[in-house]
Amino acid sequence: MRSKIVAGNWKMNKNRTETEALLAELSAKLPDTNAEVMVAPPYVNLGEAVRYLDDSIIAVIAQNMHFAESGAYTGEISADMLLDIGVDTAIIGHSERRAYFGETDAILAKKVAFALEKNIRTMFCFGEELEDRKSGNHFNVVADQLKNALFSLDASAWKNIVLAYEPVWAIGTGETASPEQAQEMHAFIRKTITDRYDANVAGNVSILYGGSVKPGNANEIFSKPDVDGGLIGGASLVADDFIAIIKAI
Ligand code: PGA
Repeated sequence: MRSKIVAGNWKMNKNRTETEALLAELSAKLPDTNAEVMVAPPYVNLGEAVRYLDDSIIAVIAQNMHFAESGAYTGEISADMLLDIGVDTAIIGHSERRAYFGETDAILAKKVAFALEKNIRTMFCFGEELEDRKSGNHFNVVADQLKNALFSLDASAWKNIVLAYEPVWAIGTGETASPEQAQEMHAFIRKTITDRYDANVAGNVSILYGGSVKPGNANEIFSKPDVDGGLIGGASLVADDFIAIIKAI
């Protein structure tokens, strides 16, 4: 079901003590909200975060997961391991995974399919590079990313999918897509899903925007009709900034 979501991707930041401190501050300052609030600490602190947020509306989600059930995959984490510690949502396909760890659309299709089979809600990230936008190819790139990783799924699988459109040129750069650019792409994404499935599937999926969302621009971006929230990197590491972004939704 389509819902408002604010998710913080902590990436490779915050040790155990810092994790507790940030969660304590977020918990203390969390406003009343209808939005789903999520945080994605690094793997080693997921269990700790789940325990810490036991009574909280803040959900703990994973930054990644592997496509195999178990086995000889040194350094990887399985769906069952996440479920076992109480994590039932995973970010899949973040542009940093694609750029630095060789995650292709084909790998991501396997990850998404396996996550959904395991009933893990999938926050699928995608978005074009700067050259794609400059050359006017950004709609094609985004449509291909969706098609390659998601369009083999049955319509019923989509109830467990959240999309995060993150133009690579806006991630960690301080440069944000304008609210109009975000809306234009989100509307295009919904149309692409309508064409492949139907208006019901497209209308029920939450589409988050990610890329340098800050307290100063969140309001305007979230005011757009096809933007259902944000995936927040840098600003999610500072409690007051993340809280301000939650208030903006
Ligand atoms: P940023 O990161 O907010 O620091 O740009 C967003 C993301 O990578 O999800």
